[in-house]
Amino acid sequence: MPASRVQTAAFYEVKDLAAGEAVVLITVADPKLVMESLNLQLRDALAWETRAGPEGFRTRVVRREETEPADVVDLLIRDHHRVDELLGKALRRLNVADVAGAQPLLAASAAGLRRHIRVENEILAPMLPQPIGMDGTSHTAVMLREHDEILAQLAEVEASLGLDAAPEAWEVEPFVAILSGTLAKHEHREESNLFPHWAAALRARPAAEQKSLLARVRAMLEAATADGA
Ligand SMILES: [Fe+2]
Ligand SMILES: [Fe+2]
Repeated sequence: MPASRVQTAAFYEVKDLAAGEAVVLITVADPKLVMESLNLQLRDALAWETRAGPEGFRTRVVRREETEPADVVDLLIRDHHRVDELLGKALRRLNVADVAGAQPLLAASAAGLRRHIRVENEILAPMLPQPIGMDGTSHTAVMLREHDEILAQLAEVEASLGLDAAPEAWEVEPFVAILSGTLAKHEHREESNLFPHWAAALRARPAAEQKSLLARVRAMLEAATADGA
């Protein structure tokens, strides 16, 4: 097909990639840029490997969550997506007035968020560079301040759930919506302002240290999955 249509065609092939599924794309030109742009469109959900062969370029695409995380930053980004998804599902339950259905999702989001913030505040912020933005503010200081804000909003969600024995969806939903919006902006800022610096600093460390830090962070984040449903 014409080169101009390759990206759209590839998008429809990979956008609903199911767990355990792989799509193989065969293209005439190197699909590096096409894949990067698709991955951006799909919020970093893809992992792929391209090989040049006699038939052109053969690219095998899978869901990124099914591959081993490349480094600590990759792990944090995946954890952002996981918590976003949990909150999104909780919001959808609340939108149909299903508070009981939202409750375990909110509990899992809360546990996950607290673990994630602990990793960023206590393990990573102290050991990694503290880059300064164009306006002179420290990206790390912004991150820490936003974490406090997120924890306060999370407490509001929990307070709304504890209002009475059976809270109404409309008593809870606005607080979850505010938290979800704050979190999305925070994650975007982290991923664009801070994580590139963290990733570069981590890559400069000895391989053994990178490996042990990855294992440590992973254990801390996964504890949230285990105890938070
Ligand atoms: Fe954060
Ligand atoms: Fe984060």
